[in-house]
Amino acid sequence: MKIFKKILKWGGLGILVLVVAFLGASEYILTSAPDPSPVTLTLPTDEASLLEGERLSRMSGCTGCHTEDLAGQIFFDEPVFARLVVPNLTHFMKTQTVEALEAAIRQGIGFDGRPLVLMPSPMYRYLTDEETAKIIAFLKTKPVVENDLPDNFFGPMSRFLFLKGEFKTAPTLIAEQTPLRFSAASAPKWARGEKLALGMCTECHGQNLEGTDEGDFYTPDLSIAAAYTLEEFSHLMNTGEALGGRELGLMTEVAKSRFSYLFEDEVSALHAYLLDRAEREMEEGSE
Ligand code: HEC
Ligand code: HEC
Repeated sequence: MKIFKKILKWGGLGILVLVVAFLGASEYILTSAPDPSPVTLTLPTDEASLLEGERLSRMSGCTGCHTEDLAGQIFFDEPVFARLVVPNLTHFMKTQTVEALEAAIRQGIGFDGRPLVLMPSPMYRYLTDEETAKIIAFLKTKPVVENDLPDNFFGPMSRFLFLKGEFKTAPTLIAEQTPLRFSAASAPKWARGEKLALGMCTECHGQNLEGTDEGDFYTPDLSIAAAYTLEEFSHLMNTGEALGGRELGLMTEVAKSRFSYLFEDEVSALHAYLLDRAEREMEEGSE
């Protein structure tokens, strides 16, 4: 009997130590972020800039996740996994400094210095200072809406995936990003397309646009865009209708709610960049 008690006691202690280590290590990942780099932005007040801020907010999806009136929503709630909450931005837009808003949007660092999760800052880091200022200026015009939401909660399953490195916080994803291939000076057209692709498509098509296959969530490598003429691609971006008149579910939704706000010259820059990328992939593949 004694020996059983001993095993139970030490076994229990071992499990407790493991649990504490597991919680401690995952908590470290979920709370550690670099200090934000200070950025000074000047907010515009003219009507044209506010309109452009609205267009950029729609293209970027702020009004999708944070909802049309920015009151936020519970994005996902599954006790063993996690509860992910998209916060109500309406108070924050009035009370936070422009610097704090910039750090959240482009650097993935929350107002309390926490690394943000799910917020697509790895895409928004490609927004220029001017674009970011226009987005903030537009979102500040939205009235305050009362909508109390619970805090994020990370259950054992999501903590495990953070420890395994399958889930990453926004600042970690940003630190891992590869530098841009094209610069505005050397290749202005492709630079524009690259910035748009990395700024709008990576959220679903993967950090390098190579597509994802995670169980029930599949997106193709964007070299598939090479199958589209500019006209067909423009039709997809504007209406969400793919080649052969196919409806694509989530892709169709985001095309309608976000990409239909792209200007025509932006669509052609995006298309040109994706064609070039597809050719490069073919060359690299045949080497
Ligand atoms: C895919 C959904 C999604 C989209 C799109 C999105 N957000 Fe977020 N955002 C979130 C989530 C989730 C959080 C909270 C993250 C956390 O608490 O870890 C967040 C947090 C924020 C915060 C920081 C709040 C804080 O507590 O520090 C700001 C500011 C913000 N978002 C602004 C924006 C703006 C501006 C855009 C568009 C350019 C945008 N978001 C687009 C999901 C999204
Ligand atoms: C919110 C998620 C999401 C975003 C953001 C997104 N896509 Fe998609 N996309 C999808 C999904 C999901 C599919 C696969 C749809 C299917 O096959 O059912 C897809 C498929 C496609 C296809 C293949 C169409 C075909 O012929 O089958 C193209 C091309 C495409 N996306 C282009 C883009 C471009 C360009 C961007 C950025 C401007 C982008 N997507 C951003 C989710 C997204």
